[in-house]
This record gives sequence, structure tokens and C-alpha cells, in this order.
Amino acid sequence: MNENKVIILPGDGIGPEVVAEAVKALKKAVSLFGLEMVMQEMLAGGEALDKLDVPLPDDTLQACRKARAVLHGTFGGPQWEDFPLSKRPLAALLNLRKELDVYANLRYARPLPSLFDKAPLKPEYLANVDILIIREVTSGIYFGPKERRTLGRSTRASDTMVYADFEIERAARRAFEIARTRKGKVTCVDKANVLESSRLWRKITRDVHREYSDVELDFMYVDVCAMQLVLNPANFDVILTSNIFGDILSDEASAVLVGSVGVLPSATLGEEEKTSLFGPIHGPVNEIAGQNKANPLGTVLSAALLLRFAWQNEEAALSIERAVEKVLEEGYRSTELMSAGKKEVGTREMGDLIVERMTRT
Ligand code: IPM
Ligand code: MG
Repeated sequence: MNENKVIILPGDGIGPEVVAEAVKALKKAVSLFGLEMVMQEMLAGGEALDKLDVPLPDDTLQACRKARAVLHGTFGGPQWEDFPLSKRPLAALLNLRKELDVYANLRYARPLPSLFDKAPLKPEYLANVDILIIREVTSGIYFGPKERRTLGRSTRASDTMVYADFEIERAARRAFEIARTRKGKVTCVDKANVLESSRLWRKITRDVHREYSDVELDFMYVDVCAMQLVLNPANFDVILTSNIFGDILSDEASAVLVGSVGVLPSATLGEEEKTSLFGPIHGPVNEIAGQNKANPLGTVLSAALLLRFAWQNEEAALSIERAVEKVLEEGYRSTELMSAGKKEVGTREMGDLIVERMTRT
């Protein structure tokens, strides 16, 4: 592994713009804290499809494998929508998760007081909310057998949710380990009243839990969880769940609790010493691409997670997170986060404001 390498994959839509602001913040952290870090931009997503007919070129994947971390933007655009999955830009992200075997996707839904006005819930519901969704991202219905068949006059399509015991075990283990550093509670979210794969999730998670009896474990059906995230969000600590349920619940948590899907960062981790992956959870928002209107916070905060997890530098991570909070407290907002009385700034200006406020304290 190249200890100091970060591969940068800007991707499509607003990806290049938001990634550029995260790179600015990383560069500032490098100089503030004297870090050893080499960044290299590479091709993935729509541009790779157009030039090379593959979403994740082999040299990009090989470079990612050797790097300490990958920082990605967003993938997708209307011009590729009708192509099969393997020829759509988002396959770059799916393949990367699978190939790097980064199975634990951490999504933090921690409402920022300065954005309470953007969330539809009342502030008193948001005050003590601090949720970490740990989403399994190398398996499940995203990767199980798919098929579309026409028989006579009827066409059928299927996607299959498949989980192996070891895939559940390693995700559960990671959730318990992380819960120990937080409030010590894991809620395993599934649909075990109906789905066989969910029943295996419950069994394996219970088995692993025997080694973590200091951590509280409960189970919740995904429909109930979708409701409880809105009704009693402060009751959650760590949510452990499968690929598709985590995808849905994290968009809900970000929009309803944090005020925008554009603010949530994510870290995707495999076993120690392996490359880890960082990036926002939102889509490419092609309608506003190239207009300096994109909200870069999800990606900038993902750079903070990169410093925390891949560089194990808590201070450097905090320097970004505190600067983001400060800029928001001062009333600056990119277009998407605007509300009455706030100061609207562009993507680049938002990045500059954050970088200016990053300090070593
Ligand atoms: C996410 C995104 C991706 C996913 C897409 C772009 C494939 O929605 O990271 O949440 O579904 O995992
Ligand atoms: Mg999603």
C-alpha cells in the first residue's frame, strides 16, 4: 500500500465542484498539521464511460487498491440513464465498494443547530439526535442475481437479496466495536417478519453480540424504523442494516433530521490496512452542475472523515468540522441550504470560507 496516497475521483454532475472544495480543505489540513499526503486525480464514472467504455477503468481500480484512501464525488447523468447497470456511471461506485471490499458504510446523521431551520422537525426533536447508520455495502440486493425475461406477452424482472453469514458477521462486529465508542446501543434494522435474509441477519447479529454483551442490542423492522426516525430520532445510537435499507434510511435521516441530503458525509471501511473510501451520500444533481451553486458540505465533511479514519488524525478532522460549523453559524449558505436572513454564497466561496476558518486548536 502506498501509505500517503489519496485517489481523487470527482465523477459527474456537481461531483467535480464539490470535490474541489474538499481537496482545498485537505490541502489546508496538510499544511496546518504537517501531514504526508499525495493526491492524485483519476478517471471514473461518466467521463470514463465516454472515453473508455467502462465506468471504473482498471488503472483507476489498481491505483485505488494501492492507495490509503479514495475520495469520490457523485456519479450519473441523464445521458447514461437508459444503459444497462454495467454501463452507467454509478457502477463505478458500486464496483469500487465491491472490489475494495469496504463493507461498512458509516453515515452520520447529527443535526447541526445552525441548520435546525432547514429540517422539517421541530428543534426540540433534533436537540439530542446523534445517529450513525452502518450500512453494509458489498452485498445484498445490489449485488445478487438480476434478470429480466419475456415469456409470451409477459415480462418479468427480478433482483435477489442474498447475504452470506460472514458478510453479516463482519458488519455486525464493526457496529458493536463502534457503538462501544458512542452511547453503546445498536439497533439492527431488517424485515425479519417476511424476509429470510433478514432472519439470518438476526441470527448472526445475536451470535456476534455474545462477544459484546456490554453493548445494548435491539431489533426493529425497517418500516417501523422509517417511522421512528421521525417520531423519536433521539432514541437511536447506531443503526446496523443491509445495503438497500441503509440507502433508504440514510436519505430519510439526512433530509428529515439534518435538513439536507447534501450535508451528510460518509466513510466506507473494510478491514484495517485496506484502502478506505470517502464521499457524500447525495446524487450528481446534474441540473445545477457547473453553476457554482452546489452544496459542498457533504464532501468537505467526508474529507474530515478521511483524516479521522485513514490518517487517524482527530485534530485535523476536527479542524474541518469546526470550520464548517463556524461558517454555518456565521450565516453563510450555499443555494440549496438558503433560508430567510442567511447570506447566500457559491460553492467555491463556501469552500474558501471553510478553509479560512480552519485552525490548529
Ligand atoms: C448512495 C447512493 C448510491 C447507492 C448510488 C449512487 C448507487 O444512492 O451512496 O446512497 O445506492 O448506494
Ligand atoms: Mg443513496
